[in-house]
Amino acid sequence: MCGIVGYVGPRIATPMLIEGLKRMEYRGYDSAGVALLGDDGVDLRRAKGKIAALESTVATRPIEGTTGIGHTRWATHGAPSEKNAHPQRDCTGTIAVVHNGIIENYTVLRKRLIEAGHVFKSDTDTEVLAHLIEAAFKGNLEEAVTEALNLVEGTYGIAVISSQDPDKIVAARKGSPLLIGLGDGENYVASDVAAILQHTRQVVYLDDGEMAVLTPTTYRVFDLEANDVPKNVNRIDWDLEQIEKGGFEHFMLKEIFEQPQTIENTMRGRLVTEEGFSKLGGLNLTKQEMLDLEHIIITACGTSWHSALIGKLMIEDLARIRVDVEYASEFRYRNPIVDDKSLCVVISQSGETADTLAAMREAKRRGAKTLGLVNVVGSTIAREDDGGIYLHAGPEIGVASTKAFTSQVIALTLLTLKLARLRALSVEKGRAIAQAMEALPAQVQQILENAAAVEAIADRFRDATNFLYLGRGYNFPVALEGALKLKEISYIHAEGYPAAEMKHGPIALIDENMPVVFIAPHDSVFEKVVSNISEVKARGGRVIVITSREEPSLAGKIDFEIRIPETIDMLYPVLAVVPLQLLAYYIAAKRGLNVDQPRNLAKSVTVE
Ligand code: G6P
Repeated sequence: MCGIVGYVGPRIATPMLIEGLKRMEYRGYDSAGVALLGDDGVDLRRAKGKIAALESTVATRPIEGTTGIGHTRWATHGAPSEKNAHPQRDCTGTIAVVHNGIIENYTVLRKRLIEAGHVFKSDTDTEVLAHLIEAAFKGNLEEAVTEALNLVEGTYGIAVISSQDPDKIVAARKGSPLLIGLGDGENYVASDVAAILQHTRQVVYLDDGEMAVLTPTTYRVFDLEANDVPKNVNRIDWDLEQIEKGGFEHFMLKEIFEQPQTIENTMRGRLVTEEGFSKLGGLNLTKQEMLDLEHIIITACGTSWHSALIGKLMIEDLARIRVDVEYASEFRYRNPIVDDKSLCVVISQSGETADTLAAMREAKRRGAKTLGLVNVVGSTIAREDDGGIYLHAGPEIGVASTKAFTSQVIALTLLTLKLARLRALSVEKGRAIAQAMEALPAQVQQILENAAAVEAIADRFRDATNFLYLGRGYNFPVALEGALKLKEISYIHAEGYPAAEMKHGPIALIDENMPVVFIAPHDSVFEKVVSNISEVKARGGRVIVITSREEPSLAGKIDFEIRIPETIDMLYPVLAVVPLQLLAYYIAAKRGLNVDQPRNLAKSVTVE
């Protein structure tokens, strides 16, 4: 999704801005641009498509200045094009704005501005901001930005420069992340820490309703009434190398292969194996509050929603608390039954997904306590929830989520242990679960060592046009996740279904061209799934089975087998999803597609 970077200091900013934009490429975008303060106004270079296109524009027509802002845009209002790329300028060409988010009342504002004589050059909502600032400008940029923002409804993270008030960047945030980077005689602004990590590790996160003014040597944070807001300086420990590919062809593959470590990291210091329970320091729930819980609602989007489905099964099975799972985008616009006896668990890799954040705020408004399962430290959900469990999976760059999913399932298992041991679960059963969890990193490693076998299957099916993924119980959400992975990166149509439900529709699709992936480890519903496999085979389908041991009952019914190690029923998703991630990855890579940045998708969807 959109990315912002800005620099004010003694150096020529152009290379730094372009480098910063490249660091945010993983977020997904369709155009990019930079603006720099020159002697007579603000100079712009913008290009549709990849940052390489912007680089060649800049190479042909160089642009220099020591104060500048840059942007990667993911289109919302107006098609991806050069004129709609950010930065956007005012009529005088002396003010430039980059903006993440959506100005909801832009139609009314635009009409009013046009009536007042302003000339618009783009179809964007953002351009409204540039003209509003122009209209309010009386010599001081932050005052003009404040006045403009007071007229605006919607969400924004913005950075603004003006040649009439030079050597300064004004930034503001409402609903779209923004941070300040502190350098030595130079300062930065960015929507994503990756953009500036090369230059500084000292950052100040802006909260909603806050603005900032940066000069080369100072920064000031204040609210829309111009009151100073005291802020903490945070130190970032993530390494740039961590964000880079580390020898793998794609980030996604690197992230799949990181899972033995990331699963370990999510459990580290939290699992008390002997006692069969978990220590979760950030829950902010008393023992009594946990015992009083009558209802849990888990809300999320995309892959995170799939892990939520697994969480429901675990919590209901072991802690015996009623759990509802809701798409965040649906939850926020209906009238859900949530009150102060409810706990709202919010799952988000990025911690910035607009619908998930809004759902969390809605649950809070209705009196529920909120608990965030978030990967990105310091993200908005992590800062606004009442308690949280960080995933500690490290930066996930590939747009298709992989390691965050397995860490989410682990975090949900830790939460289940905590709630269940307080209620019904015995030490012995808790200990058995904890021991099975401890074995997972080595078991995932074992699966990864067999990646070549999955690659060989991918080779056979690279030209398929449809796929069906089937599983039951804990592995039905895995079927959904396997299908989503394939759709996202290979553009092959795929559906996940409960294996038995297949008879009520999808079975009509099965012929000798239809690959059907069964997630069929040896768990309590294994025999049932074998019957479903027979139903597919009888209709000529091509069966790929993920299973956990040599099974005579499968003989003659399967075309390809992928073996995973044995574990307890509730933890099979962590193992079974890994070959599905690999299958999707290899198929997409063999089709020559852009695995890390699939078309039309964004890593962090910060608009609803
Ligand atoms: C986007 C991403 C998905 C992700 C979903 C939820 O659609 O492409 O991979 O699962 O957002 O993101 P979150 O950061 O909230 O987990």
